[in-house]
Amino acid sequence: MNWIVEPKTEKYIYSLLPARDRVMREMERYAQKHHVPIIGPACGRLLYQLARLVRARRVFEMGSAIGYSTLWLARAVGPGVLGRVRVLVGDALHLLDSTEGQFDLIFNDVDKTQYPDAFRRAVSRVRVGGLFVTDNVLWSGRVARKPTPKDAQTRAIQKFNRLIYRSPKLFATIIPLRDGFAVCERVR
Ligand SMILES: C[S@@+](CC[C@H](N)C(=O)[O-])C[C@H]1O[C@@H](n2cnc3c(N)ncnc32)[C@H](O)[C@@H]1O
Repeated sequence: MNWIVEPKTEKYIYSLLPARDRVMREMERYAQKHHVPIIGPACGRLLYQLARLVRARRVFEMGSAIGYSTLWLARAVGPGVLGRVRVLVGDALHLLDSTEGQFDLIFNDVDKTQYPDAFRRAVSRVRVGGLFVTDNVLWSGRVARKPTPKDAQTRAIQKFNRLIYRSPKLFATIIPLRDGFAVCERVR
């Protein structure tokens, strides 16, 4: 992946991060070895911090892979990870539709072509004052260039970014950490 921030600065940010515990480190090693695209520790901390700031109690994650971001989120919600996580298997967008109620935070990390659809389904499911957070919104900088006709992922992310900034329901900010993290507060 090409980072957004120049590599030396990106490396510097990572050099500051406190060591993770054994479980997190093991997941990070596994992801690296098996090319699982996890959010990594810098964005993991951000997700954790955001969940704590809104005092999240009910969180929905779309796109969990090995559960690395899940672990950051679950730890932010409170102690006792095992008891508080429910794993749903299937298309996360449909699973969100079939899960009742509102959420303090929805984290979106599904297939990039699904991002506009994820926006449509998720925003109304976040409580006012809650957060809709999305990874990879800068897509190695490809969003800033004209995509090829075949590049459906970049086009979908560009559309998603326009949607979040134009939505009267959201206050959106893209943080250029790692591959770009969109933090959207539901304001109405
Ligand atoms: C980028 S990875 C998720 C990484 C994870 N959020 C983390 O940082 O630890 C995306 C994962 O979501 C899965 N996925 C993609 N689209 C999905 C969908 N619509 N519903 C459920 N899972 C999906 C992929 O198979 C993959 O395992």
